[in-house]
Amino acid sequence: MVLTQVLFLPSYHSVLFTYMWFFTFLSRCKKEKINKEQDTEHSSPVSVSPVLTSSLVPCDQETGNNQVILLQLDLASLKSVRSFVENVLRTESRLDLLINNAGLMNDGKTQEGFGMIFGVNHLGHFLLTVLLLDRLKASGPSRVVTVASRGYEYGKIDFNCLTTHRDFALGDNDYQLFLKYCHSKLCNVLFTYELAKRLQDSNVTCYSLHPGVIKTEIGRNAKLWMKILFAPVSLLLTDAESGAQTTLHCALEQGIEHLSGHYFTHCAPLLNVMPKARDDAAAKKLWELSESFCGLS
Ligand SMILES: *[C@@H]1O[C@H](CO)[C@@H](O)[C@H](O)[C@H]1NC(C)=O
Repeated sequence: MVLTQVLFLPSYHSVLFTYMWFFTFLSRCKKEKINKEQDTEHSSPVSVSPVLTSSLVPCDQETGNNQVILLQLDLASLKSVRSFVENVLRTESRLDLLINNAGLMNDGKTQEGFGMIFGVNHLGHFLLTVLLLDRLKASGPSRVVTVASRGYEYGKIDFNCLTTHRDFALGDNDYQLFLKYCHSKLCNVLFTYELAKRLQDSNVTCYSLHPGVIKTEIGRNAKLWMKILFAPVSLLLTDAESGAQTTLHCALEQGIEHLSGHYFTHCAPLLNVMPKARDDAAAKKLWELSESFCGLS
């Protein structure tokens, strides 16, 4: 459940919107409670720089690189985010790159009672990033890359509902969950936009992106008829490796620092994003509300 990118191809847009509705079925994990001990997929939603050298769980067998380590992080718990950050700050003197890559489309609430999609896709990453900022600044030039999705185009942030219900909206049917996913992706884009402003005098830059249409394990729990229905679209999907290219571009490409705050797609900045992705007031409001939700203000 690490990559949950919604399907979008420019020329198939309206067709795919219909398909996406079905996709919301596919993308839902089994409604089992996240088991922190056993759900290893959920425990590694953040990509930690290979610079990290201390070790809780060695994963060099899988990667062939003994510099890669795995630390537990449950983004559905702000408490877990805090202890993860404490752990990282205690054991690692540098942080060069943070890739906010986790996403889900599940119902339910986070540990602190936020809607699951808002809490994980936005708020957990928000707190994670903010708590790591000083270390990122001290390690500059450094970067924060946040994987959004073209789904942001269907997103809208209802601040009243967020304030009163700690969720984007009421209701958790599949279509509502899909919309909440889009709202959370708009949050990712606005978060990056605001973060860039706040980082103007630092050597930290940040980018959000649409990773493309990616075939991942996301549909593994789907029913057979959904898999059949989905098969034609599946042929158009790229594999996870090609799907990581825009993320890698934002993380590694030299000379894009002046594009901090931008939204990338196909390894290039998209300069004509929708106005709602450049709404200064909404970006600021989202930041401040997130701070207050996290007890930072
Ligand atoms: C940014 O990096 C440059 C070059 O390494 C350095 O001279 C400058 O002090 C840094 N600025 C900040 C705000 O850290």
